[in-house]
Amino acid sequence: MEEKRRMRIVHLSDIHVAESHFLPELAEKVIAKINELEPEIMVLTGDITDGGYSPEFEQAKRYIDRIECEVKVIVPGNHDARNVGYLCFEDVFGTRMAVKRYRGVTIVGVDSSQPDVDEGHVGRDKYEWIMKSFGNASVKIFALHHHLIPVPNTGRERNILVDAGDVLDLLLKSGVNIALCGHKHVPWVWNLNGMLIVNAGTACSNRVKWGIPPSFNLIELNEGDTGIQIYRIYSEGGQELVLNQPEI
Ligand SMILES: [Fe+2]
Ligand SMILES: [Fe+2]
Repeated sequence: MEEKRRMRIVHLSDIHVAESHFLPELAEKVIAKINELEPEIMVLTGDITDGGYSPEFEQAKRYIDRIECEVKVIVPGNHDARNVGYLCFEDVFGTRMAVKRYRGVTIVGVDSSQPDVDEGHVGRDKYEWIMKSFGNASVKIFALHHHLIPVPNTGRERNILVDAGDVLDLLLKSGVNIALCGHKHVPWVWNLNGMLIVNAGTACSNRVKWGIPPSFNLIELNEGDTGIQIYRIYSEGGQELVLNQPEI
């Protein structure tokens, strides 16, 4: 019997295009690797730019357009909200609050940034919209830039979502399976009451902590929505299985 294809979701973050730390040759490797993996869904959890300037977004879009997949969810990060960059984001990528549905998977992406402030905030006014947007999807994925809980090897805790407790409660009540975050430039996976909180590192910048190499995440959902594997794909090459669970 032919093996049924799993759904593949690529999660990358903090590409920081157009800043002095951006590594264009590494970005080429990342695009080539993603296209080789043939994912159905790509989620980019913010810090696309450095200063939120229009040419940075346009340059980033030229890279992102070369990623081949059915569904793309892109949310802004704190760097993208600098210098009124949230308006440039909308010009280039459209909405900052995205809902995408694909083969039983619903992805809700929110803008957790605030103008010229580094800390994250979702806001009570969005909670009902988030819960309703998930509906009764069989797999629910939430995407935002800021981290929901602290990540090891990131130094003094700061910029965490200021309403993290309420958002975590909301996500658990909404039955979210996976929350995707970035911001800290350190890849990590937590399991909180059955919900996976997956942080991506920086995909193609040299803003790495403690020599932790640039990477992105590959999430594989098994056929029938049972079972999940998460791989850390190193941008320079190589990969590591970081989670293998029989049920999602
Ligand atoms: Fe970043
Ligand atoms: Fe950030």
